Amino acid sequence: MCCKMSLQNKNAVLFGGCGGMGLAIGQALLKEGVQKLFVLDVTELSEANLSLLKESGTEAQILCKTCDISNRTELLQVLEGDVMDALGSVDILINSAGILDSEDPGKVIGVNLVTML
Ligand SMILES: NC(=O)c1ccc[n+]([C@@H]2O[C@H](COP(=O)([O-])OP(=O)(O)OC[C@H]3O[C@@H](n4cnc5c(N)ncnc54)[C@H](O)[C@@H]3O)[C@@H](O)[C@H]2O)c1
Repeated sequence: MCCKMSLQNKNAVLFGGCGGMGLAIGQALLKEGVQKLFVLDVTELSEANLSLLKESGTEAQILCKTCDISNRTELLQVLEGDVMDALGSVDILINSAGILDSEDPGKVIGVNLVTML
């Protein structure tokens, strides 16, 4: 019996999807049938990486907005405004945004952990 969960027609929000593992996760979600993907990242999504996402989900709607997810006020504003306006509802939420900065451990904990609380 196959028990693979289908991601067809799901709406996903992805933190940190402009590069690294987040970009790969975004591609995988789109290949699995996610219909709308909203990327929030502190950096802009490059044309090259947007093309990679589009190749993975040719029928999907791909949206991106710059947002520092460690800034709670900014994050809630974007989630409750831009994201809900575009998606209507969220089925999948993934945080792949992360930093490793030994100079500022407080910022590391803020971005990597506190954001998800
Ligand atoms: N790549 C690995 O093999 C690996 C292994 C174990 C753990 N990790 C951890 O996983 C996390 C992601 O790794 P990666 O290799 O994809 O890193 P990466 O730097 O390539 O990508 C992280 C993404 O998060 C974004 N980002 C960073 N801070 C942000 C913020 N405040 N708000 C919004 N977006 C933000 C960046 O702009 C970037 O697009 C890191 O914390 C890393 O330490 C990575």
